[in-house]
Amino acid sequence: MATDKTILRALRGETQTVPPVWLMRQAGRYLPEYRATRAKAGDFLSLCYNPELAAEVTLQPIRRYGFDAAILFADILLLPQALGADLWFVTGEGPRLSTITDAAGLARLKGRDDIHEVLSPVYETVRTVARDLPPETTLIGFAGAPWTVATYMIAGRGTPDQAPAHKLKDTDRATFTALIDLLTEATIEYLSCQVEAGAEVVKLFDSWAGSLKGQDFDDFCLTPAKRIIAALKARHPGLPVIAFPREAGARYVGFARATGADCVALDNSVSADWAAENVQVDGCVQGNLDPKLMVTGGQALAEETRRIRDAFAGGPHIFNLGHGITPDADPENVHVMLEALRG
Ligand code: CP3
Repeated sequence: MATDKTILRALRGETQTVPPVWLMRQAGRYLPEYRATRAKAGDFLSLCYNPELAAEVTLQPIRRYGFDAAILFADILLLPQALGADLWFVTGEGPRLSTITDAAGLARLKGRDDIHEVLSPVYETVRTVARDLPPETTLIGFAGAPWTVATYMIAGRGTPDQAPAHKLKDTDRATFTALIDLLTEATIEYLSCQVEAGAEVVKLFDSWAGSLKGQDFDDFCLTPAKRIIAALKARHPGLPVIAFPREAGARYVGFARATGADCVALDNSVSADWAAENVQVDGCVQGNLDPKLMVTGGQALAEETRRIRDAFAGGPHIFNLGHGITPDADPENVHVMLEALRG
């Protein structure tokens, strides 16, 4: 029965003796079977747009580890591509996009209802995974949050301090807010289609939320998240949403209440004890093991896993990392973590 799924129980606010678990970037380069399927697809983007192979890599970590959730294999930068931006990946460096620097660049983008032709293979991946997933496993869909996606669209790449996006925000407010609005509306359509295809939960990744301060955090992280969550819940009553305002620090406090999120994902810069007291009081939290421990492993990994589990034992919790598992992680260390968590 769908309601018996451990992840859905946690998202409804249930405290469980053993928390359900999945890992950010659980389908990725640390797994030899992922590297083999990616080679078959040719490159990363071809893999994202190949429903059969994308479904295969989504399912690989479920088969290997029996995680409680699968996350759709795709990328947050597919939405800008669907809106008309050029997108490519440079091996060893990361994503590159055509840049949006002014009103003319913004005007060349497509509308929120024009994204589905490019994104329809992603919906097909969701349908395939929903069909093939074990009945106890929850399927999570996702999108980037408007601010984080905008930082890539404005700079044309990942940036350490999101300076180009801050510059546009501070010098051409009209263009910047119009881009955030377009992304907010397109994200609602994109996630809604994922839900219609079979995603049971959606997650909003605001990886660069930490660089928004003061009123900017309210206007460009919190408010868009609130709009997206309200629209999705209106269309899909009862849909659980996980929000990840990474490195929000003190702004994690009250974030779930302010946005309507059912769960707040925590990065590993906040302590589990602090987050239990200040964030988990409002409901489910997810996190927040340091991904480095998946590389170094050993006793420290087992101890830290148990420490985080115990810190959050008084309320609803989904065990996860504070950020994505890295390509140099040892696949055996995932077993060490699961043993410590469940044993
Ligand atoms: O978690 C999962 O297993 C689901 C798939 C997923 C990917 N990217 C696959 C991926 C998800 C949820 C994402 C989200 C994503 N993508 C974010 C937000 C989360 C975060 O990490 O902060 C961001 C910022 C991106 C953009 C992106 N995609 C970057 C900056 C990079 C390059 C960095 C890197 O790790 O190489 C990617 C590539 C990417 N996305 C890979 C994977 C598995 C590696 C690509 C490869 O196979 O070469």
